[in-house]
Amino acid sequence: MKMWSGRFNHGPDAEFEQWQRSFPFDRVLLPYEVAASKAHAFALAKAGVLDSDELATTLFALDQIGRESVPDVDDPAIEDVHHYVETRLVELIGEVGYKLHTGRSRNEQVATDLRLYVREQIDEVTRLLAEFVSAFVKQAEAAGNSAMPAYTHLQRAEPVLVAHWLLAYVEMFLRDIDRLSDCRKRLNVCPLGSGAVAGTILPLDRGAIAAELEFDAPTANSMDASSDRDFAIEFVQALSFVALHLSRWAEEFILFSTTEFAFVKLPEQYSTGSSAMPQKKNPDALELIRGKAGKVFAEATALFIGVKGLPLAYNKDLQETQQPVFSAAQQVSGMVRVATGFMTTVEFNFGRMQQAASNGFMNAQAAAAHLVRQGIAFRRAHELIGKAVRLCVEQGCELEQLSKQDYALCGIDADEHFYNSLALEEVLAIHNVPGGTAASRVHEALQTAKEKLSLFLGVAHACT
Ligand code: ARG
Repeated sequence: MKMWSGRFNHGPDAEFEQWQRSFPFDRVLLPYEVAASKAHAFALAKAGVLDSDELATTLFALDQIGRESVPDVDDPAIEDVHHYVETRLVELIGEVGYKLHTGRSRNEQVATDLRLYVREQIDEVTRLLAEFVSAFVKQAEAAGNSAMPAYTHLQRAEPVLVAHWLLAYVEMFLRDIDRLSDCRKRLNVCPLGSGAVAGTILPLDRGAIAAELEFDAPTANSMDASSDRDFAIEFVQALSFVALHLSRWAEEFILFSTTEFAFVKLPEQYSTGSSAMPQKKNPDALELIRGKAGKVFAEATALFIGVKGLPLAYNKDLQETQQPVFSAAQQVSGMVRVATGFMTTVEFNFGRMQQAASNGFMNAQAAAAHLVRQGIAFRRAHELIGKAVRLCVEQGCELEQLSKQDYALCGIDADEHFYNSLALEEVLAIHNVPGGTAASRVHEALQTAKEKLSLFLGVAHACT
């Protein structure tokens, strides 16, 4: 039976009727629709609408509907997931099934289901991200004190520990987890009891419904609650950050896996060959992650545009906000899973990284710092070392290979301490500030990252 045919003389145009259905995609909301319906059934019983037998029958049937898988063949008579549950309920328990819709509206139902869906996805993506971050932490630990060049403008800038570089990504992904948990806090309120727009017509215990579904509280305003999609937009925005960071990571690993860099050895499990060029090993996993990131941003944009012109309260346009949310969640989960596999199996060419960290004048700033410690103004020291670099470029050598006489020509008194300051370990060691690349600081950062991670892993476990 249709959910709304009484006041119509004519049925809908057949094409329009099919075209406006959401069941082909909103069926993924079934577990949440069932949970929300059970919470509503309890409230109806409390309000005297269902007697205890009717409640028991309804709950039993709802559980069964939850256990059944949604039929693969899409039934064209079913409008949406709400209609599906009602239809199935009536099939199972007869006329009493129609009582469940007392005092509620699909407007609040879909708002509730979507919140429950997003909440679960947040917990899932958090768990996946925590595993991904763990892979970085393990690689950072395994890297020990190996060094590599850090780049600015994609030109060699200063040497850093490989672990320091990997921990930069740990920071990004920990922030992403934090953003998701922040979004979770705001979304965790329950629209049920808001009715179609003005609040339910029955004295339902909204606090009990919210508690049943593990929401922190009922929503505060029925008009807002039945039409708000901020939580969905915020979620997809948070996912966009994950995608953004994954994309930057993928790009850098693609670059570092080229023969030109050869810092990263592509794991065969996450690479593909070429049908034409027998020698190729291509970083497809990384390229697809970078490619899919764009799709996630597109979903975030679709949501913003979809909602921006809507007057209060519910409008059918809101049905169109579901697919971008499902799609972004699916894309990002898949991306993080593959990225975790990649990060777990990837190997680094530490020798080559160390070698690259040892030339290209990346000790120039440290050399200037040494002169500063001797009382020379930094601007002057910069100029002097700059001259020494120019000499090196002319002679085709590194700063540590210039003779004392060469330095004297540049106006630098190069004593033994000066030469010592040019050594890679010394250059790394002077970055001895919180957040810097000195070994002791990186070790500290690694410990902090592990603590944060265990906190998030704890939260993720508590939620599942
Ligand atoms: N399938 C609809 C949606 O996803 C459910 C709400 C329908 N409400 C209505 N007033 N037609 O938005």
